[in-house]
Amino acid sequence: MRRVRERAYAKLNLTLDVLRKRPDGYHDMEMVMQTVDLYDTVDITLNDVPGIEVGISRDDLPKNLHNLAGKAAAEFLNFVNESVGVSVYITKNIPDKAGMAGGSADAAAVIRGLDKLLETRLSDKELLELCAKVGSDVPFCLRGGTALARGRGEVLTDLPALPRCGIVIVKPDFSVSTPALFGALDGQEIENRPDTAGFLDLLKAGDLPGMGKKLYNVFEPVLPPPERETVDAIKAHLLRNGALGACMTGTGSAVFGLFPSLEAAKRVKPLPYATFFASPVEKTV
Ligand code: C5P
Repeated sequence: MRRVRERAYAKLNLTLDVLRKRPDGYHDMEMVMQTVDLYDTVDITLNDVPGIEVGISRDDLPKNLHNLAGKAAAEFLNFVNESVGVSVYITKNIPDKAGMAGGSADAAAVIRGLDKLLETRLSDKELLELCAKVGSDVPFCLRGGTALARGRGEVLTDLPALPRCGIVIVKPDFSVSTPALFGALDGQEIENRPDTAGFLDLLKAGDLPGMGKKLYNVFEPVLPPPERETVDAIKAHLLRNGALGACMTGTGSAVFGLFPSLEAAKRVKPLPYATFFASPVEKTV
């Protein structure tokens, strides 16, 4: 086999807590992560001429080794000691700079695809370790479904699947710097945190309205004021339009609302921002 096509699914953070800053500069996290059915298509092809090429359907996004997918290919080839040529082409649908792990999902898709193409059959543990080298969100993107992520984000525990529901994702025009938001949190005591244990109990009970009320992201209060205002306005709009709860994902700037069904989600009055309708996806590997 010389070519595979993989789907790279986006994620949302149903809860996001930052526990502490670590000596290595990263932060220990506690997050309930959810895969949703919004995906990039990643075509991976083997060539006889060594070298890694990454193309992408959007001119404003990085190519080749500047793209996380290129870094993933390089790490994979290094790990399995192969010097074959790899071409990747990403057809982008996941909004970028959204907190939805679009780049990490593409990287995980490359690792999954190369494992198939080169028939290396790495163990789950080896695959997840490789993913963690590429980025903190990449292991979750490989695994998918509903999971509790700890450590930098790479220590994963599978959770019961989120009940069937509809999700509206709204991507405002601004982007937020991830290191800057972590830095803003470092400078202060975090007053409000998600009730992660309570959320997990509700997830086990399949109580979607209960979970809606407990969506929470510690980055929201440290957004710069104009951006925070926009996020709050989008959340209020989603709640007025029937959302069971609404929250920003990751370090933003996408905001999502949880609805009892996709039909209910699609009844939301339009906002002047890119809007996506999605459903949860169960484990991808
Ligand atoms: O691991 P990744 O390259 O995706 O992280 C991007 C940046 O986000 C890091 O350089 C760091 O500033 C911050 N980060 C962090 N703690 C984490 C994950 C990311 O401080 N657990």
